[in-house]
Amino acid sequence: MTGAGGMLGRDVVAAVDQDVVALTHAELDVTDRSAVERAMAEARPDVVINCAAFTDVDGAESDEGPATVLNGEAAGYVAAAAPAIVHPSTDHVFDGSKGAPYLESDATGPRSAYGRSKLAGEHAVARANPRHFIVRTSWLFGVGGTNFVDTMLGAGRDRDELKVVDDQVGRPTYTGHLAAALVRLAATDLYGIHHIAGGGAACSWFEFATEIFRQAEIDVRVVPCTTEEFPRPAPRPAYSVLGSERPDPILLPDWRSGLAAYLAERAPAR
Ligand SMILES: NC(=O)c1ccc[n+]([C@@H]2O[C@H](COP(=O)([O-])OP(=O)(O)OC[C@H]3O[C@@H](n4cnc5c(N)ncnc54)[C@H](OP(=O)(O)O)[C@@H]3O)[C@@H](O)[C@H]2O)c1
Repeated sequence: MTGAGGMLGRDVVAAVDQDVVALTHAELDVTDRSAVERAMAEARPDVVINCAAFTDVDGAESDEGPATVLNGEAAGYVAAAAPAIVHPSTDHVFDGSKGAPYLESDATGPRSAYGRSKLAGEHAVARANPRHFIVRTSWLFGVGGTNFVDTMLGAGRDRDELKVVDDQVGRPTYTGHLAAALVRLAATDLYGIHHIAGGGAACSWFEFATEIFRQAEIDVRVVPCTTEEFPRPAPRPAYSVLGSERPDPILLPDWRSGLAAYLAERAPAR
């Protein structure tokens, strides 16, 4: 696998119970096509889980070139060299205006540079290798990287009151749960696009934050606010709930239980 040192990558390494060749950024730069080909020839994998990515959503807005090279072109290099590929993608490939859960066949329409770069990656992967699993997911949190839960816990300890946006709705996803699903999927022949995100009711960032403080037993007043009050460089999809039209979709546990697992896992680490 690639990007093995990232937030999702670390949990994928932990979820694999067979031999795994786990390459971090330092060990394999996926934008170097010949290095990718050499690494594949050496590791001879059955399937590659491609966790290498440019994930700075706001940074991509002013630096679209590198985001496109890594998330777009390099994803194609990995797909072309791999016998089969599991490739994580994102809810940001949608414009967020549907108002009902997005299904795998829904029209894409990214509103940000990051979303465009990830969509370019989906196309590059699909073109390069028919044995692809493109897995769109959303709102990841896990012990291998900084994430919204950490940000909230940090802010909640310093302040009595926090404003959190209430007009963006999605599905939080624990990387521990997602990683297990990716490993399971990799052992099937269910090629194509999959939507896999945390189970349970979708929520806003405000509702997510409220649940974080409830579970962490931190007493802080969470106040709902609008996206307009918190302008960011990259536009976010307002409604990016991922649903699936597959006959037997891989369903993840409720994101609230993912949050509980995450809080328990991070406690000794911090
Ligand atoms: N985070 C989310 O909320 C979210 C939501 C939906 C979908 N996703 C998707 O899920 C996947 C994993 O995301 P994540 O949150 O785990 O990201 P992450 O923590 O940022 O991990 C990305 C990894 O890619 C590595 N990397 C960067 N440039 C590389 C290169 N040229 N060659 C090889 N490796 C490189 C990074 O290493 P360095 O840090 O050492 O550069 C890092 O270890 C991505 O495809 C992302 O688009 C994420």
